[in-house]
Amino acid sequence: MTKILRVFALACVALLTHACILGDAPVARSHIPHVSRHLVARQPQTNAVVIKNVRVFEPLIGILSPPRDVAFENGRIVPLADCSSTPTVVDGTGRTLLPGLIESHSHPETAEHLQAFARNGVTTVMSLGCGTSETCGGLAGLGPGLPDLYFSGGVATVPGGQHAQTPGYPQNETVSETEQAAPWVQAQVDKGASFIKFITERAPSPTLNDATLAALAQAAKAQHLLSNCHAADYNGTRQALDAGVNIVHHSSTNVAYDDEILAKFKTAPLFNPLHLATRVSVPTLTLMRFIVKIIPGQTYEAAQASVKSLHDAGIPILVGTDSNIIAGPTFGPSFHDELANLVEIGLTPVEALRSATLLPARHWMLRDRGVIAPGLRADLLLVNGDPTKDISATKNIEQVWIAGVAIL
Ligand SMILES: *[C@@H]1O[C@H](CO)[C@@H](O)[C@H](O)[C@H]1NC(C)=O
Ligand SMILES: *[C@@H]1O[C@H](CO)[C@@H](O)[C@H](O)[C@H]1NC(C)=O
Repeated sequence: MTKILRVFALACVALLTHACILGDAPVARSHIPHVSRHLVARQPQTNAVVIKNVRVFEPLIGILSPPRDVAFENGRIVPLADCSSTPTVVDGTGRTLLPGLIESHSHPETAEHLQAFARNGVTTVMSLGCGTSETCGGLAGLGPGLPDLYFSGGVATVPGGQHAQTPGYPQNETVSETEQAAPWVQAQVDKGASFIKFITERAPSPTLNDATLAALAQAAKAQHLLSNCHAADYNGTRQALDAGVNIVHHSSTNVAYDDEILAKFKTAPLFNPLHLATRVSVPTLTLMRFIVKIIPGQTYEAAQASVKSLHDAGIPILVGTDSNIIAGPTFGPSFHDELANLVEIGLTPVEALRSATLLPARHWMLRDRGVIAPGLRADLLLVNGDPTKDISATKNIEQVWIAGVAIL
């Protein structure tokens, strides 16, 4: 048994909860205090609710169900007959119920940022770096009614790298040699990180060399953690893929991905618990659309062509915005912009919705969400209209529940 499974089994024995039996913790988690706190935080005692006569988005088969009833209680979806209290009835007529949206790239810093996500139907947030580890750790434990948050802790880049010059970047946490990779990754694990993030900087910035990137990916693998790499240009993407990373964030705005890059995307990652045949992309088109106006010589068309070629090649694409406190995409509303950006380059609305629900749940290894089914988290988004026909319907939000807690 791996260390993680042992930890998970211990947590299950300690709590003996229904949720535990279903497999609550993401596989990538390896931190005992973190896992335990998380399991406790996920059991809000909420009264039963039944949404009547609602069409349900089924991401596995890509259709809306005929109108049916969906019940949940104590944070979990349950068969209606299993409710122990008389459920509150919500009318779902003419509406669509979606699994809560999963943001695969953000930098929230405050509870207000998380509230903005919640109001916009985003129920799980991946923080790909935040000001301090205290900020991240604090946001992860704020309690019911806020999105479930997972974080990388710090973000590795070289001394003098463009990202090391971002206000607030801890200058003592840069990485310049392969020997520093494993201790750096260990430091993130100690902060409670659920995954590891590092950066390939755009020329002319100094950037991590190939050997150090590979050492970081190897160190993440040794900790049973997914590795994530920022790569916003052609060469950075090639470096990230050669290092063996799981998830490539952003897309190329200088030169569009070509056959060489696509071939690298079509190889298995170094750490491969899901037995994947390819890598995964979080293209953050919303950010790229913004960035090309600031950095000379970049085009949004290169980013669009890159993502289109990934989609045509069958590479999994996840919805992420890079919403942050400095500039560009907003916390929450920009998620819906990203859905539209993906539909614009050729994903069907159903594919875009899968990239916001089922696919991120699978690729971030969160086994308790991403579809609407008994036993899974009651992370739900009720909208008016049919977003499988018109993706903008995800913005017609009627109600959001996070682990069964109503937000609006
Ligand atoms: C960097 O400095 C901060 C603030 O002094 C400290 O909390 C942190 O532990 C240091 N990190 C490392 C890797 O030494
Ligand atoms: C990638 O890097 C190589 C070697 O430094 C350089 O010759 C080439 O122009 C770069 N390509 C792009 C697209 O930036």
